[in-house]
Amino acid sequence: MSDLDELREAAAHCTACELYEPATQTVFGAGPPSAWLMLVGEQPGDREDLDGAPFVGPAGRLLDTALQRAGIDRSEVYVTNAVKHFRFEVSGNRRLHKTPGVKHVRACRPWLDGELAAVGPAVVATLGATAGKALLGSAFRITAERGTPRPWEDRTLVPTTHPSAILRTPPEQRDEALDALVADLRVVAGLRP
Ligand code: URA
Repeated sequence: MSDLDELREAAAHCTACELYEPATQTVFGAGPPSAWLMLVGEQPGDREDLDGAPFVGPAGRLLDTALQRAGIDRSEVYVTNAVKHFRFEVSGNRRLHKTPGVKHVRACRPWLDGELAAVGPAVVATLGATAGKALLGSAFRITAERGTPRPWEDRTLVPTTHPSAILRTPPEQRDEALDALVADLRVVAGLRP
């Protein structure tokens, strides 16, 4: 069993914070075990919670489009999240996303650190504020820092926006927001070893 398989198995039983209780399952990262690029999102959404895989719902489809336009194939990327259980509130028969808190990110951090150590990506891209803050600290500001590579723990890190933010953008500004994500991902593609 590889380090990553052992981590995945252990994470499936994680009770380090209360989010495991209402969630369907732990959604661990997925992708090649020695990918050059790791994408870090926020937390699984409704679809991901049910399927047990990261970025397979609407945000994942938009991410795939953006990656493709930037010249990155999803099959070359290890995709994961800062928090590995879906945090939600129930409204009628719907489960609505709730942003994870600092304590959830902190409780989940050993899994992310384990994935980083096992996969050893040369490049890490954070998607959105939660992932950016998880790795760069609470002073991280996405608008000021997105698209700019920086050295980070023997790797290169590029912060960018979250595809869900584009889905929430008013329709008339959506193309522009997607173009900006693609531009950041082209910067990432340019760092491929
Ligand atoms: N949003 C995320 O941050 N991660 C997912 O896996 C899905 C949606």
